[in-house]
Amino acid sequence: MSLIEAKGIVVTFAIRKGLKKLPFNAVDNVDLEIEQGMIVGLLGESGSGKTTLGKVTLDLVKPTKGIVKFMGKDIRKMYKEDYRKYRLNAQYVPQDPYASLHPFKTTKDILMDIIKYHKLVHSDKEALELVSDTMIKVGLNPPEKYLNKYPFQLSGGERQRVSIARALLLKPMYIVADEPVTMLDASLKGAIVSTLKNAIQAMRTSLLFITHEITLLQYFGSQTKVLVMYLGRVVEQAPLGELLQNPLHPYTQALISAIPVADPKARASRKLLLRGSPPSPLSKPPGCPLSDRCPFVTEKCRKEEVVLKAISSKHLVACHLY
Ligand SMILES: Nc1ncnc2c1ncn2[C@@H]1O[C@H](COP(=O)(O)OP(=O)(O)OP(=O)(O)O)[C@@H](O)[C@H]1O
Ligand SMILES: [Mg+2]
Repeated sequence: MSLIEAKGIVVTFAIRKGLKKLPFNAVDNVDLEIEQGMIVGLLGESGSGKTTLGKVTLDLVKPTKGIVKFMGKDIRKMYKEDYRKYRLNAQYVPQDPYASLHPFKTTKDILMDIIKYHKLVHSDKEALELVSDTMIKVGLNPPEKYLNKYPFQLSGGERQRVSIARALLLKPMYIVADEPVTMLDASLKGAIVSTLKNAIQAMRTSLLFITHEITLLQYFGSQTKVLVMYLGRVVEQAPLGELLQNPLHPYTQALISAIPVADPKARASRKLLLRGSPPSPLSKPPGCPLSDRCPFVTEKCRKEEVVLKAISSKHLVACHLY
C-alpha cells in the first residue's frame, strides 16, 4: 500500500484581469504515488505547479478535483482521529525558512513550542532532549551553540537546518521539502540535501523533494522516482538514472541539456533547445502544453490532448512522438 496516493488532481485558480476572473489549472489531472520510506523528486520550472501539488498532498491546498489518500484512506472521508494522525505525520519544509520561522523566538522556543503544542512528551527535560537529539541529526551540533539564537543570528544554512529540524521533530511519516536549498549558496546545497536524506532515511520517512535543479536529485540516487512537470501536467516519470540516460520528452531533454556542469551521462544525450520561455498558464496551447515551443511539433500535437503512457514498467511519457 502506498503511503500517499493522489489521483486525478486538478487545482483551478483564477487570475484577475481587469473586471474578469480568468480560471486556469495550476495542476491538471496529475497522479502521484509515494511508497512508505521512498523519496520522490518533483522537477519543473517556476510556475509548473510543484508547490501546489505538494500542498495538495498535505491538505494545505484543496483540489478542485481528485482524491488524496494517506495509508489507503481518503483524507476527505477520514474520521477525526485518523485525520489528526495524518496531519501530524505529514510535514512541510518551505523554500524560505526566514519567512516561516518566528523572528522573535529563539531556536529553542521554535522547536520546544511544537513539542508542547502536540503534547509529545511529559516534561521540559524530555522535550529539551528531543530538541537536542533532532538538532544533532540535522547538523546543528553542539545544540547549545544554537539554542538561544534568533533566526536573524543564524546563517541561511543554519536557518534551513532549524526548519528541517522542526519538520523532523514530530517523526513524521511523510515530508514535503519544497525547494529547501534554493535560497542557499551552491557550496551549501549538497550538505543540506545530504543531511535531509540521512535523517529521513534513518526514520523511514517518505519524502517529496520539490526542485527545479535536476542535479540536486542526484544526492538521492539513480533509483529515485522523478516526476517532471510542465504547466501543471506531468510530462514524464522515470527513475532518475533512466531519466538522465534516456530522457524521452523534449521538455526533459531540454532540462538535461541545460545542466551547467557537464555530467557525462547528460552530455551523451543530444543538445536540445526550446523556443521562447514557458507561457503564462492562461495561454497554455491546446493539445500538448509544449506544442508552441517544441522543435518536433506536428499537427497532431497542436490539436490532440496527450496522456501519460507507459514505455516500460517504470518509464512514463506524455508525448505524441512515442
Ligand atoms: N493561490 C493562488 N492563486 C492564484 N494563482 C496561484 C495561486 N498559487 C499559485 N498560483 C499560480 O499557479 C501556478 C503554479 O504555481 P506553483 O506555486 O504551484 O508553481 P511552482 O512550480 O511551485 O513554481 P515555483 O518554482 O515558482 O515555486 C503559477 O502560475 C502560480 O502563479
Ligand atoms: Mg514552488
